Amino acid sequence: MTNQMRKNRGLGELDSYLENFSGLIKNKLKYQKKVKILDAGCGYGLAMTGLLKKFGNRIEVIGYNKNKQHGTIKDLKRMSIKRGLFTKEDIKKIKNFPKIIYLNAEKKLPFRKESFDFIYCLHSVYLYKDKIEFFKEVNRILKKDGIARISFFEVTMLKNKKEVFDNLRKSNRNHFLEIWNETKQINIIDYFNNIKGIEIKFGKRKSKDHAIIYLEIKKQPKLNFNLKFVNSVNMGLIAPDKYGIRDIYSLNSTPKVL
Ligand SMILES: C[S@@+](CC[C@H](N)C(=O)[O-])C[C@H]1O[C@@H](n2cnc3c(N)ncnc32)[C@H](O)[C@@H]1O
Repeated sequence: MTNQMRKNRGLGELDSYLENFSGLIKNKLKYQKKVKILDAGCGYGLAMTGLLKKFGNRIEVIGYNKNKQHGTIKDLKRMSIKRGLFTKEDIKKIKNFPKIIYLNAEKKLPFRKESFDFIYCLHSVYLYKDKIEFFKEVNRILKKDGIARISFFEVTMLKNKKEVFDNLRKSNRNHFLEIWNETKQINIIDYFNNIKGIEIKFGKRKSKDHAIIYLEIKKQPKLNFNLKFVNSVNMGLIAPDKYGIRDIYSLNSTPKVL
């Protein structure tokens, strides 16, 4: 990851990019005393302290980064004070201040199955090789009835949902992920929407008039993608203005829906 990449998105971005994510938590807290949340690729972690400010001791939040250059607890405290979320004195008293761990999300995630009520991932998965394995891992560590939202890529915002998706289908813009059925490329939007427990949705990035396409996973006993990982390409190696990892998959067998 380059230094120019943003690591400071907060609760405002979480709620606009992933369509009122904190509303999901608020609803759950009507029926449950506490919820456990994972910020998958937290950067400085300001979305985590935004949630802490909003829900206090009713949440436990853990974030991960690939390494310390991408954000530490010290950065999180400093940035949260700078943004006026908490004072230094507040932070000393908070018992459930978020934690940041370091891991490689291209490998099995170091959490027990059914650990989290909610998982969000903002502008991080495009950097992982084999995103399908990551989606399966996310499903494994979600609790029963748990929900994950994973931002995927951005496109220009159009008038309504139909136009955004029609446009995506027409251009077959398979950012960061391609699926092939022998010589034919499959549209990933339709592909994912036909998998039980998965839905492609979009939120808004108002500053750029963009739609943030994200993948929602509702916990399933097992997620079956029916895909074989073929290879991945580091787009930065193709052209200096490109970035992220593009994964290529082939269908294991042709599903009836396609
Ligand atoms: C562009 S930053 C986004 C940070 C934050 N979510 C935000 O939106 O401000 C990308 C994040 O993905 C994480 N990341 C990238 N590749 C990773 C990998 N293979 N394993 C774990 N984390 C990774 C980085 O550590 C960083 O936290």
